[in-house]
Amino acid sequence: MGKLIVMNPAHASTPAARYGRVAITLHWLIGAALLAQITFGFLLDDIAPRGTPARAATINLHKSFGIVLALLIVVRLVWRLKHRPPAWPLALSEWQRSTSQWSHRLLYACMLVMPLSGYLGSNFSKYGVKFFGLALKPWGPVSPSWYAVFNGIHIVTAFLFCGLIAVHVAAALKHALVDRDAVFSRIWFKRPA
Ligand code: HEM
Ligand code: HEM
Repeated sequence: MGKLIVMNPAHASTPAARYGRVAITLHWLIGAALLAQITFGFLLDDIAPRGTPARAATINLHKSFGIVLALLIVVRLVWRLKHRPPAWPLALSEWQRSTSQWSHRLLYACMLVMPLSGYLGSNFSKYGVKFFGLALKPWGPVSPSWYAVFNGIHIVTAFLFCGLIAVHVAAALKHALVDRDAVFSRIWFKRPA
């Protein structure tokens, strides 16, 4: 009689366990777009200082890009919830697994809070949102205090997000260049055999 071998998926990792093509594409597409959007956000005052004619168009461009990004992020999150990530490489210790898991959760949280706080704040300002020229009707009253709350969340989360991304990239580079394990390659595009 053949023996039935039951494997715990958490321990079933092989060097070949990789993220799928869709997850990889979404990771790098959204990652690059987010880095550009964060830079754009921090440069808003330099590109178009308050009170200058270019200010409204520049802010609306930031808002429009942010809304497109939000839609991509929702697609990514839904995809992620429906597809389990690959099993951990065996070389990872328990603390590395849980730190990685929690940092990814926080990255997803920032990805949601950034566009949401921007959008909610805009609905309490007299400017509302012009999505690539199309005025989206604001549904909130003009309220400087509510605007300040959501704008504050937008700004604080932006700094938190930058810190998390810095740690994330440093960890990824350490795995790729120092440990030389499978962590980086499993989310990088596979070369044809
Ligand atoms: C993933 C999407 C987004 C990212 C990463 C992002 C990032 C940023 C960053 C880094 C800043 C500069 C913060 C600072 O002044 O210290 C900023 C400012 C701003 N963002 Fe966003 N943003 C996003 C989406 C949105 C959306 C969807 C809206 C509105 C619909 C929005 C509205 C604003 C506004 C109005 C400011 C200027 C705040 C001010 O100068 O007082 N953002 N954003
Ligand atoms: C805004 C920029 C970025 C964000 C928001 C981001 C976010 C994420 C998230 C949420 C995951 C977990 C994927 C999942 O299980 O669903 C992940 C995985 C990963 N990211 Fe990023 N990422 C960014 C940029 C980068 C960059 C620039 C690098 C490399 C230098 C990188 C390297 C990796 C690696 C190696 C993994 C796989 C980790 C693992 O196997 O568990 N990421 N990223």
